[in-house]
Amino acid sequence: MAHRRTKVAIVGAGPAGLLLGALLARHNIDAVIVEQRSAEYVLSRIRAGVLEQTTVDLLREAGVVDRCLQEGLTHDGIELSFDGGLHRIDFRALTGKHVTVYGQTEVTHDLMQSRARGNLTTDYEAEDVRIEGFNGEHPVVRYVKSGVVQELTCDFIAGCDGYHGICRASVPPEAISTFEKVYPFGWLGVLADVPPVRHELIYANHERGFALCSQRSKTRSRYYVQCSLDDQVDQWSDDAFWDELRRRLPAEIAEAVTTGPSIEKSIAPLRSFVAEPMRFGRLFLAGDAAHIVPPTGAKGLNLAATDVGYLAQGLVEYYHEGSAAGLDQYSARCLSRVWKAERFSWWFTSLMHRFPEAGAFGSRLQQAELAYLVGSRSASSALAENYVGLPL
Ligand code: APR
Ligand code: PHB
Repeated sequence: MAHRRTKVAIVGAGPAGLLLGALLARHNIDAVIVEQRSAEYVLSRIRAGVLEQTTVDLLREAGVVDRCLQEGLTHDGIELSFDGGLHRIDFRALTGKHVTVYGQTEVTHDLMQSRARGNLTTDYEAEDVRIEGFNGEHPVVRYVKSGVVQELTCDFIAGCDGYHGICRASVPPEAISTFEKVYPFGWLGVLADVPPVRHELIYANHERGFALCSQRSKTRSRYYVQCSLDDQVDQWSDDAFWDELRRRLPAEIAEAVTTGPSIEKSIAPLRSFVAEPMRFGRLFLAGDAAHIVPPTGAKGLNLAATDVGYLAQGLVEYYHEGSAAGLDQYSARCLSRVWKAERFSWWFTSLMHRFPEAGAFGSRLQQAELAYLVGSRSASSALAENYVGLPL
């Protein structure tokens, strides 16, 4: 058995765990990350790619913002498509802010590189990860690495191990409340090395279902169509995907879509989920381990970033100022922001998708709300200020 000690044991090397690790390193707080997958596997997961200014600011604070500033694309608005027309929501005019299009994969890559440069420990391919003792003074993370049992003792555990992780599952059921909504459809996504159809993202409400035209760069596009939960990815040929996407877009946009072979194609279910509280003794949950939003509005990565921003702040106060106030406020501060993002993501999902049970009345209401949204400066501002990110 190998034994090691650190101040903060971080479980999970997704964006939440890696960003927390980078923020703590900037403040000379010793941390070890334990991840069950390989680094290559973590990097191969394709996720969203829209960063709020708050997230870019945290990357700056973590010392990993350079490539994001060079290669990220500044977007001053989005377009909404419905009823055959396109309507722009001008973030800059309505809020003075913008978002940055930069893939989660790139964020993860930059954080991994910065960890490697700083010689910081990440134990990839850790098997049978368990956490113990977080209700007392001496939490421990145990796992097996290359056949050797590892015992990592620490002051705090950061549960950054995503929705299916073991940290939230290790909390006794009576100590945690969960809130959940599952949506009756999924998103079929395709990544392709073709130029995006428009400079900005298009969110489309169509009678055949929702569609989204997104992008990763000037030469790489990410497109989605709402699909049935019964659909299998292999039933969807590239041609079938492109045809379905174009059917859901206004004619002039459909004609302008550049198609090409998919480099990734996957189906994701849509879910809203919150666990309360986000702290249990010396265990702090952050990111997808504590909450899930449906992807409409791209809040998942941004919420994970603000969670670990608050957590890093609390830990810095604890170690450098001897104050536990930030840690004590962690759960409440996060949850107040989380629930606002949950509300926005649920609202934007409800507005843009076809719900089997909504019927003709439901779809008329959607049309009326969309018309109101683009016609009213107040309604447009409400969308814009949530999309660019509410203030901390
Ligand atoms: N032990 C160690 N690591 C684990 C365990 C475990 N038992 N279970 C899961 N993990 C790892 C996963 O392999 C993954 O790399 O934890 C990591 C969690 O990363 P994410 O799922 O990416 O979650 P998070 O870092 O919170 O990032 C949130 O990801 O899902 C998107 O929309 C979400 O963009 C948001 C972001
Ligand atoms: C994406 O590019 O993957 C993306 C963008 C915006 C969203 C969701 C996903 O709302």
